Amino acid sequence: MEKRITSKVEFYDQLASQLSSLLAGERDLIANAANFSSLVFHSLPDVNWAGFYFEKDGELVLGPFQGQPACVRIKLGQGVCGTAAAKCATTIVPNVHEFPGHIACDSASNSEIVIPLRKGERFIGVFDLDSPLPARFDEEDAAGLETLVKILLSSTH
Ligand code: SME
Repeated sequence: MEKRITSKVEFYDQLASQLSSLLAGERDLIANAANFSSLVFHSLPDVNWAGFYFEKDGELVLGPFQGQPACVRIKLGQGVCGTAAAKCATTIVPNVHEFPGHIACDSASNSEIVIPLRKGERFIGVFDLDSPLPARFDEEDAAGLETLVKILLSSTH
């Protein structure tokens, strides 16, 4: 019988195990980021975009993702991703239409969460998730996604 998932914490624990198995034995960041975005996109309910932006020469540049085509370059400090990058802090936006400078890549998006990626002390990019639901993401999602991102970063060079 399939195990019933009773809480978000348990859901993210199971996803963390799946992710560890998925990434085991591969150390390429792009390959693992691609599989990461696919796993998250197909596992989390009510998500319409999941993917990465990596820091290059003071800008965020689009990386592996799932969802509609997205803007390629975001300046640090711009939009939700650029703001999270500039602060190097997880950023939850319950209503993207109220976020000053929000960059609308998919008109279906209503809420968003961005997790910064750090290799030691070095900022290397962000993981971005969009949802068509308002206020889709909370502190439990933030904690769960931060754990997943740690697994990704410890799997790579
Ligand atoms: N909404 C983001 C842009 C990236 S897309 O959502 C894929 C932002 O404001 O930074």
